[in-house]
Amino acid sequence: MRVGFLQTVPEFGEKERNLERVAELLEGVSADLLVLPELFSTGYLFTDSKELEALAEPFPGGPTSQFLAEIAARHDIALVAGVLEKEGSRYFNSAVAVEPGGSLEVYQKVHLFREEKRWFVPGTRFKIARLKDVAVGLMICFDWFFPESARVLSLMGAQILCHPSNLVLPHCQRAMVTRCLENRVFAITANRAGMELRGGNHMAFTGASQITSRAGEVLLQGPDEGEGLGVVDIDPQQALDKRLTPENDLFLDRNPECYKILTDVSHGRAVS
Ligand code: ACM
Repeated sequence: MRVGFLQTVPEFGEKERNLERVAELLEGVSADLLVLPELFSTGYLFTDSKELEALAEPFPGGPTSQFLAEIAARHDIALVAGVLEKEGSRYFNSAVAVEPGGSLEVYQKVHLFREEKRWFVPGTRFKIARLKDVAVGLMICFDWFFPESARVLSLMGAQILCHPSNLVLPHCQRAMVTRCLENRVFAITANRAGMELRGGNHMAFTGASQITSRAGEVLLQGPDEGEGLGVVDIDPQQALDKRLTPENDLFLDRNPECYKILTDVSHGRAVS
């Protein structure tokens, strides 16, 4: 399976231009599955709710879903992309998964970062999408900081973690090595690059999109700055084998009886 990332530098609020640029960058692409960054068509740093109202769309049903479906059909490619979703009167930082002729799957980001908490409602469940006959686990950016995200998706059967991102903190790329190693899954982190300076807020996004193998090897890394398209061949079937040694299967060796505190809603504060 040929999988990859498209690292972009979106311009805030310029949805049409951002979509056009993605179409240009994908001209002639040959891949089965490609991941685009978080909020790839809108940009990240919102300053008021009017901006959300102007830029958000329902998924499916809006121009960005239509764009993704057209690109998927044109290149016979499956896509995972971060989008600004409107559902009723609520906004979500979401990832959508599409493949040619398939239905659109939506994951709403569970772990919101900083000011995202002002704008978005957190999602309530992780999601697997079946793309090109492979189980793809959807997570978005800051979800990486919570090892439960990758673990839950892997236990749900994910073979590849698709991870649209707008990273600003260091260490994610190295953390994804561990996430892949401990779950024996592949990961595609599609990060954006560039800066946004809006309403007195400033964010510098770190690029270096990454494809990581189920053995924790960095198979490909994008540039720290600017756009980049990276594609590698992987065998996602390998992710179904959780054996580390002949005696150790990483999933069968788990001991959930010892992990109950993970689902304690007091967040582990009341440990005795
Ligand atoms: C992030 O979750 N966009 C840092």
